[in-house]
Amino acid sequence: MKTAYLFIAALCLPVQLLAQTFMMNPYGCKDAVLLNGKWNAIVDPFCRGEQMKFYENRKPRTDREFLEYSFDNGLRLDVPGDFNSQLPELKYFEGNVWYQRQFTARKDPQRRQFLYFAGVSYEAGVWLNGREVGHHEGGFTPFQFEITGLIADGTNDLVVKVNNTRRPDGIPAMNFDWWNYGGILRDVLLVDRPKAHVRDYLVQLKRGHKDLIAGFVQLDGADSPEQVEITIPELGIRQALTSDANGRAIFEIKAAPRLWESKSPKLYQTTISVGPDAVTDAIGFRSIEVRGEDLLLNGQPVFLKGINFHEEIPQRMGRAYSEADAAMILNEVEALGCNFIRTAHYPQNEHIVRMAERMGLMIWEEIPLWQGIQFTNPVVLDKAVTMLREMIYRDKNRAGIIIWSIANETTPSEYRDKVLGELATLTRSLDDTRLVGSDFDNPRYDKATSTFRLADKVAETVDVVGVNKYLGWYMPFPAAPQEIKWQVATGKPLIFTEYGGEALYGQHGSTNVAHSWSEEYVEELFRKNHLMFENIPNLRGTCPWVLFDFRSPNRFLPQYQDGWNRKGLVSDKGQRKRAWWVVKEFYDRK
Ligand code: GCU
Repeated sequence: MKTAYLFIAALCLPVQLLAQTFMMNPYGCKDAVLLNGKWNAIVDPFCRGEQMKFYENRKPRTDREFLEYSFDNGLRLDVPGDFNSQLPELKYFEGNVWYQRQFTARKDPQRRQFLYFAGVSYEAGVWLNGREVGHHEGGFTPFQFEITGLIADGTNDLVVKVNNTRRPDGIPAMNFDWWNYGGILRDVLLVDRPKAHVRDYLVQLKRGHKDLIAGFVQLDGADSPEQVEITIPELGIRQALTSDANGRAIFEIKAAPRLWESKSPKLYQTTISVGPDAVTDAIGFRSIEVRGEDLLLNGQPVFLKGINFHEEIPQRMGRAYSEADAAMILNEVEALGCNFIRTAHYPQNEHIVRMAERMGLMIWEEIPLWQGIQFTNPVVLDKAVTMLREMIYRDKNRAGIIIWSIANETTPSEYRDKVLGELATLTRSLDDTRLVGSDFDNPRYDKATSTFRLADKVAETVDVVGVNKYLGWYMPFPAAPQEIKWQVATGKPLIFTEYGGEALYGQHGSTNVAHSWSEEYVEELFRKNHLMFENIPNLRGTCPWVLFDFRSPNRFLPQYQDGWNRKGLVSDKGQRKRAWWVVKEFYDRK
């Protein structure tokens, strides 16, 4: 029975994407309620739920009638949380899982209501009181729907269909090296706002300025120009603005904020309000730019001491979703001596991003355009554009985020170059205060000159080039580390965004035998890579792959891997491997 779920999942591919609206920072709104907790659920391997109208959640109406589904007295699943780790038989599940819960609401003609989903993987369908609300595709970015017209005064019935079937035109596509967790992975909020309210805002340092805070406020539901106010008490700012006919107010405010940086990650309590509506945020001010091969934070050259991690708690074999989860991961990052993280390979939850920012960690954030993407398919560009917008939209006020990455290890082709070129341009048009990056695994080694070089059009387009090269693992060292030269992205900052090797914690053996899966082999591998790094003139950051062992459906070796990628510096049980100390010592020297 268990395996039956797998091969029929492909039957369920949805067809449309319905429009949705954006809402900035509902966590900062005073009338937002979490709908987290235990939800009723139905596992629907043959995707019959829509045909059988599960979303109506109704009971038999006549004696003659009977229904062959009910959300009552059945399965209960935690929200937030992936479903794969909540039930052994769902470990490998791909298909539909239906969630249902009720909530109480007050209808008020002066107010509007929204449902905000911080992250549902991979595709979500939402119904309220039996009526269709909308759909969303993409497992790692937020979406919300206005439900003012559908909400009932009193009890409301919310049904969410979640499908985590991989698809060829998906982002990521059919193959990726992490667990395909499905479910309502992150917080769900019911947000109640006045008719006219603050839908969006940007409050950041103006590009090229240290004493000018600039940005905009976008209202929703304002029929005429409104009085908007921005207050930053610690800076003595109480700025009144008047929105235009489209509900938009642009501003520039002279100010001298203490700049956000790793050692003193200063954040300012900021409130944006219109009438009775107010959104509060903690915002940092800093500049990040490139000057030749240097990365400048607040005008000062900086070296990124980084680490990659997935949004997973290995001990729980499940997705990370809470403040406590964020603390577990980021405390280990801090212990390693890092000032930089790459939240691989997708925007991770806001608890992680905001906590990292509070800890002074700079962040590389990317959309999961990972390896085998169908770049020739125009639908994919649309989806990528939506994901990029949703990512930048959510995090554009985060000082911690310094680099937006548009893709990881994609193979050069006419279509790929075109799509990534367009995404780079779009990124800059959406946000000119941060850098654009991408990761490349295609530097080639030239034996004659002992030199790595990269010929890739997209590397010319981005501001920062990330290199993923596993010397000592997927590729043997072609020469003695200190002999190997790098001429990649000359004239730009280069970040070594992935390097490392696999070892099973507690496994000991030769430093020369990769299949020893030993800690000693990987310890030595890191030493050699760090030696080689001294030859990279434009190296401005490193990011070992990866902080923790993580689950992967591509890792089959019994006894050593067993469904885990073992490149963690820390094991799935939280134990530090010998290589951890090599990286720690490397960062302490930096
Ligand atoms: C790749 C990729 C990662 C993957 C890693 C590995 O470079 O970006 O997602 O997990 O290599 O093979 O371990």
